[in-house]
Amino acid sequence: MTIEVRLTDVSKVIRKKKCCRKTSSKRKRSPASLPEISFPLQRLYMSCLDVFKGVGTVPSPTDVQKLCRILDGMRAEDLGLSRNLRFFKTSSTVGATPKVACTTIYQSEKFSLCIFFLPANALIPLHNHPGMTVFNKLLLGKVHIKAYDLVTSSNQDDSISPSQPKLACLKADGLFTAPCDTSVLYPTSGGNIHAFKAITPCAILDVMGPPYSKKDGRDCSYYRDVPYDALPYERAVMSEEERERYWWLEEIEMPKESEMEGIEYMGPQIIEMSSS
Ligand SMILES: [Fe+2]
Repeated sequence: MTIEVRLTDVSKVIRKKKCCRKTSSKRKRSPASLPEISFPLQRLYMSCLDVFKGVGTVPSPTDVQKLCRILDGMRAEDLGLSRNLRFFKTSSTVGATPKVACTTIYQSEKFSLCIFFLPANALIPLHNHPGMTVFNKLLLGKVHIKAYDLVTSSNQDDSISPSQPKLACLKADGLFTAPCDTSVLYPTSGGNIHAFKAITPCAILDVMGPPYSKKDGRDCSYYRDVPYDALPYERAVMSEEERERYWWLEEIEMPKESEMEGIEYMGPQIIEMSSS
């Protein structure tokens, strides 16, 4: 299946600048060498350069606010997307789980900017973001999000194998409809392990710092959630109410639904700057 992404006129204006993120032969500019270039994606990129300083960076509350302010104000049109795209009008095939498409706007070792396109009923299964801070901005559509954080305690046995279910606390379980505020997850809080189910066709912008990197130990793991009472691994006495918030997460092989189709980003191009 190919998802066609057409562009609104906003991208054409900016693409005339012929600045591209992908080729290293293009010179990076220093802020002083340019007249002020300000469009929402560029502002986001510039702020990310400021905020994400590499592995181990967890943005301060002030930095989180700064990025959220920019993302909260961003619209699909700012990335060359329009509600009228054929993608957002296509109905899904009965019985088949539609495939998610993904496009990368920018990626460095410090952060990445990606858009995920989910047809109605498409799934992004439960997955984690090891050591990462992630900003999710729903640009278009309606999506159900479920998010967990692993429960860690000082007396936790480090020798527990990855195949053994891990206790997790439910942080979000609800519907989100664009336009809505940006949600933020951190390495150990905010719902670092999450899943998406598109109710209508959706576009979600992800800012990840740092990005996934297998070689640096930040590979993606997938999970299945199992109700707390369904497994005999009780480790704490909990009230009825608490038990509803706790689930077991079993690590699983990469599910078929998590295979994504890569598509070319054709929206406004970032003008790269040298980071300080
Ligand atoms: Fe994610």
